[in-house]
Amino acid sequence: RIAGPCGMVLFGVTGDLSRKKVMPAIYDLANRGLLPPGFSLVGFARRDWANQDFAQIVHDSVKQHARTPFREEVWRQLAEGFRFVQGDFDDDRAFEQLRLTLDELDLERGTGGNFAFYLAIPPGFFGTVVGQLEEHGLSKGGDPASGGPWRRVVVEKPFGHDLQSARELNATLDGVFPPESVFRIDHYLGKETVQNILAMRFANNMFEPIWNSNYVDHVQITMAEDIGIGGRAGYYDGIGAARDVIQNHLLQLMALVAMEEPTSFTADALATEKQKVLASVVLPQRLDLTTARGQYAAGWAGGEKVIGFTDEEGIRKTSTTETFAAITLHVETRRWAGVPFYLRTGKRLGRRVTEVAVVFKRAPHLPFSETATEELTQNALVIRVQPDEGMTMRFGSKVPGTAMEIRDVNMDFAYGGSFTEASAEAYERLILDVLLGDPPLFPRREEVELSWRILDPILDHWADKGRPEPYASGTWGPESADAMLARDDRTWRRP
Ligand code: BG6
Repeated sequence: RIAGPCGMVLFGVTGDLSRKKVMPAIYDLANRGLLPPGFSLVGFARRDWANQDFAQIVHDSVKQHARTPFREEVWRQLAEGFRFVQGDFDDDRAFEQLRLTLDELDLERGTGGNFAFYLAIPPGFFGTVVGQLEEHGLSKGGDPASGGPWRRVVVEKPFGHDLQSARELNATLDGVFPPESVFRIDHYLGKETVQNILAMRFANNMFEPIWNSNYVDHVQITMAEDIGIGGRAGYYDGIGAARDVIQNHLLQLMALVAMEEPTSFTADALATEKQKVLASVVLPQRLDLTTARGQYAAGWAGGEKVIGFTDEEGIRKTSTTETFAAITLHVETRRWAGVPFYLRTGKRLGRRVTEVAVVFKRAPHLPFSETATEELTQNALVIRVQPDEGMTMRFGSKVPGTAMEIRDVNMDFAYGGSFTEASAEAYERLILDVLLGDPPLFPRREEVELSWRILDPILDHWADKGRPEPYASGTWGPESADAMLARDDRTWRRP
């Protein structure tokens, strides 16, 4: 589907997010012919730039990060719609200028007055910016129901740092924009394989009958990264792994794996089911035994020696921020009673991999156990989110020979082997959805708050525990994470 007449105003033009994700995605959408001909992009920043300077920044970002080939004619047409407005977020004159610019674009390029305001800025500024948009008459384009132009706001995490701050942030946004016009980006929901969790579960008949506590022993959700914190010390120190990715990406993945079938693929129906899962989550009593946190020490990454977290530039030597977190959750519903969900994430781990492993109970009876030379491990269905997108089914099979020896084998589905279509980058899909006004892939206010409700007690529990347990870079996290599963007589998968 192609977006109708519209444009976007980008706040935070010089930030990483804009340059690495948003600008390239806009170009890629244009290149794929998914943007309307008069699409316009307005940059808003403090820099003393002219339109050409802004265009140059976008150009550099596209050249460096776009996924589709650079085509001069696509670029030229897109760049004709670039405008720059200079000012601070509290500068009334700048917002007045922004209003004039949007009016002009409507006349010159036929945007229809439809604009998305993308806040690629620290959340501390959200209040000021949406307040300005409201004050200068920019937040309301009219009544879209009666054919008036639409105005939408796009925000990125962190959606607060705990439940209280998330509520305040949500109140700020909802105070100015109606809920259906607020788009919270969780880029994991834009990933092909994440959406495929729903297709796999609900478009087939062979998974759902066993997708419950009768057959499933436990679920492991892993998001491992081999990178360190890179240049993001300022953002990461004091935030940590749990707030950075469990609150959003991992809990969203869990909700998709655990939810009931939605009545349709609409925003409302999906949100209803995801919210039910999140609202049913109960933490174990003993958080000291069912959670683990770690901080990377020096070690190896990609065959090279790397430094530890507290030696990274911009990180306090005494930092107690966790770069690894593992937690145990229970979903107290009929379907999932007694099935633990183990979530873990970390930086500087052995390898970059995100996967969901549904691990099944052992067969109730092994008629050939006397001669079987290896104990059967458990069947597992592994949804490989990235980088090697696909799915693996693990089951026991007879080893050729005279003995009844059973060994685990894998059956693989790989995207590359089955499809020739390349999957769109998450940001492309999500930005297009914003412009189309199609919100199923965006977490709602309630989901964000329910996620913090889950995480807050864990963060409180960790708050006075001092330095997280160190783990060498290139390993799979601290020993306490292994101990956490060993107590339940289970082990983490080594992807
Ligand atoms: C972001 C986190 O949301 O996701 C980063 O803030 C993390 O810390 C990134 O590196 C990982 O995204 P992806 O798409 O590479 O798995």
